[in-house]
Amino acid sequence: MNGPNGKQNNMQLEKLSLVNFKNYQEARLDFEGPIQCFLGKNGSGKTNLLEAIHYLAFTRGSSFVGDAHSAREGTDQFLIKGFFTKHSKVTEVTCSFEGRKKTIFENSKPYTRFSEHIGKYPLVLVAPNDIELIWDGGEIRRKFFDALLSQLDKEYLDQLVIYQAYLKQRNSLLRMFAERGTVDLDLVGSYNEKLAASGEVIFQKRQEFISQFLPQLEKRYAFLIEGAGEKISVEYNSELKEIDFKKELEKRLDRDIALGRTSVGIHRDDFHFLLNGHDLRRFGSQGQQKSFLIAMKLAEFDCLSAQNGFKPLLLLDDIFDKLDNDRIQHLMSLVSSHEFGQIFITDARPDRSLEIIKASGIKAQNFNVENGRVSSL
Ligand SMILES: Nc1ncnc2c1ncn2[C@@H]1O[C@H](COP(=O)(O)OP(=O)(O)OP(=O)(O)O)[C@@H](O)[C@H]1O
Ligand SMILES: [Mg+2]
Repeated sequence: MNGPNGKQNNMQLEKLSLVNFKNYQEARLDFEGPIQCFLGKNGSGKTNLLEAIHYLAFTRGSSFVGDAHSAREGTDQFLIKGFFTKHSKVTEVTCSFEGRKKTIFENSKPYTRFSEHIGKYPLVLVAPNDIELIWDGGEIRRKFFDALLSQLDKEYLDQLVIYQAYLKQRNSLLRMFAERGTVDLDLVGSYNEKLAASGEVIFQKRQEFISQFLPQLEKRYAFLIEGAGEKISVEYNSELKEIDFKKELEKRLDRDIALGRTSVGIHRDDFHFLLNGHDLRRFGSQGQQKSFLIAMKLAEFDCLSAQNGFKPLLLLDDIFDKLDNDRIQHLMSLVSSHEFGQIFITDARPDRSLEIIKASGIKAQNFNVENGRVSSL
């Protein structure tokens, strides 16, 4: 059986239903064709629909808002259900939150571990708060690359989990030494060794990955800005480039005990975004920053497509804001070129979207979103 867009190897979300999710009491949506647009005023519930799809893919929303806040005000439970077609097979994915407990089901069978589900229905979200990736501290950028690398490389995920566990243990040890005023050199030595071993693996993998990711990112950016003559780059900054990690851990022991934490390692790495050789945060305009983030997400899409052999869902939330007409046109020519699988687009200015879609010759399914209700347009 082919999906509705006629392509066998794509993944398609065919149906979505919600009960008591955010501002939706109840909603049922049927998706046909590869492009769905959710159009409606600010606060009507467009992003909430994308959040529901995000839950089905990642078992949680995209923000740090807890599950309890996703239940409609005045209720304490919600239900999200989706029907996916993948490799010509239909699967029902359900996320239920009830009695403060979240359960994810695939074809009515509950998962014991959410990590077994994540990645099966890959998704890339481009959203306004991606800007945090540029504006916030290094942690959010590490999280972005860690999440992507973990989906591409199981060994990376394993090493990261190991590293984080040892780091936590070493830090408790440092605080214990400080409290007791004694140091067990053998014990801390064994942690230094373990941290250095997994830290080196992660460092090598991050380094390798950035060198592969960069050409993809440059290609995506160049297409978006066609002819604008801007060049972007990502620099991977890690102290491990200059030091012997294990020796440095040994050297810094006294300082680390005083600090109560490990002051060197891949948990302090950062990724530096550049535009024409300058810091993107300080020198990039809003539109340039937005273009950079879109290119990053499209490069993420490329990595996941190559890895999985099918295309992730692409969620474009408020994508048209801050982009000039040329960049919008380039983006829409990508959308219309069938490079992507299923795409969900939101816009608070329906007239603008409908015009852009019409001008690009794209056949999209349009939905009107109003106050937690969805209807076909
Ligand atoms: N748990 C909840 N219960 C009820 N309503 C909620 C809940 N969480 C969020 N909302 C409401 O959902 C609305 C926001 O929905 P959403 O973010 O999807 O809007 P939007 O259509 O994307 O708007 P914009 O165009 O401004 O991005 C707000 O009015 C908010 O109060
Ligand atoms: Mg929104």
